[in-house]
Amino acid sequence: MTPKQVALVQDSFAKVALTSEAAAVLFYDRLFDIAPQMKAMFPDDMIEQRRKLMAMLAGVVKGLTNLEQVLPVAGALAKRHVSYGAKAEHYPVVGAALLWTLEKGLGDGWTPEVADAWGTAYGTLSGYMISEAYGRSQAPSKLRRQDLGASDESIPSASDDYSVSEIGLEEVR
Ligand code: HEM
Repeated sequence: MTPKQVALVQDSFAKVALTSEAAAVLFYDRLFDIAPQMKAMFPDDMIEQRRKLMAMLAGVVKGLTNLEQVLPVAGALAKRHVSYGAKAEHYPVVGAALLWTLEKGLGDGWTPEVADAWGTAYGTLSGYMISEAYGRSQAPSKLRRQDLGASDESIPSASDDYSVSEIGLEEVR
């Protein structure tokens, strides 16, 4: 990610986070709409779940400029998700619901640049999480934008190896 993309992700998230609870409601409604089979995996108390999700996203988004801190957190999160029943193929579905939510929440603020920055951020983060939890072979070498429900261009994204330098995040340190 370029420093510009990091700034776009952080600024746009700050806007959506102003209505954090509403954004999380929108996100889970969308997720269970496109993937109804996932609903049974989640706890009954979705109020607490929504709070945890938004807190985690806020931390990760903030941490894009401090990767030494954020990558171990993301790796541990990914490993906990294995016991929740999450599989590598669920990540693009969650990404699609997340990008859809941001698009709805930002309205005119959802420009092609912002969409690209989020596609890159989610593709990179989820690729890293997948490789930490399931091994590198499971991680997509390139996450395509249509996997996230966007147009059909490729996201210039993670390589097969998700070391910090190779995923191109190093430059934002
Ligand atoms: C970058 C992507 C994701 C983020 C930031 C995220 C974030 C979180 C957070 C913060 C929690 C609270 C529990 C904890 O911290 O361990 C959680 C729980 C959960 N997540 Fe995710 N998640 C992501 C992807 C996924 C995916 C792909 C699935 C696939 C089904 C999933 C399914 C769940 C479930 C079922 C729980 C509830 C666990 C329980 O309390 O029983 N998540 N997630």
